[in-house]
Amino acid sequence: MTNGFFITFEGGEGCGKSTQARLLSEELNSQGYNTILTREPGGVSSAERIRKILVEGEKNSLFPMTELLLLFAARFEHVERKIKPELNNGNIVICDRFYDSSLAYQGYGHGIDLNKIEHLKSLTIDSFQPDLTFLLDLPVMEGLSRSKRTNNKELRFENMDVSFHEKLQNGFNQIAKNNSTRFSIIDASQSIEQIKKIILNIVLDKITINKEP
Ligand code: TMP
Repeated sequence: MTNGFFITFEGGEGCGKSTQARLLSEELNSQGYNTILTREPGGVSSAERIRKILVEGEKNSLFPMTELLLLFAARFEHVERKIKPELNNGNIVICDRFYDSSLAYQGYGHGIDLNKIEHLKSLTIDSFQPDLTFLLDLPVMEGLSRSKRTNNKELRFENMDVSFHEKLQNGFNQIAKNNSTRFSIIDASQSIEQIKKIILNIVLDKITINKEP
């Protein structure tokens, strides 16, 4: 049992979720909440080292199953060393991507059997899950062009075929439908300010954590 609140941001490449995660964290901090901003893969030093293997290099340098195993190794470190302790201290944890990305990218995108992914989940983080998840929904081509414009070094996934990105995008929408009480789907073609306001209102409506005095 934790007394914090766990929020995750999900979506395809270039959907703006990292910006929104940061804006939400800044806004909640300025309103007196204790907020920790983190990301996957990564968030702690061991998992950040794994991230480099996953996001850099040639698109075919890893088998999808290798990707999945590395992602869960990184996630286990992250959850045990950072996310759970912060939640147990009563903080709000905001994470840029989490387990739903593995279902979308490695499951729907690469075609790994979703039951195998569920099995790995139960072996590692078990029933641990976010309290609230935002899916930033944007047409695939728009997202890919936004993400390439940022001159990003982490291009391994961006460089995969458009059909891969379309599959994972459909996957995210399916996952959101299957978990409709946890998910809020946001139209990511709106302005940064509009999206920020919508997200903040949803969060303030749901959190019951006390602010710092
Ligand atoms: P980011 O660009 O949003 O920081 O995410 C890094 C990449 O890692 C992104 O291209 C998606 C990929 N990824 C997966 O394929 N599966 C996962 O479970 C996670 C967390 C990320």
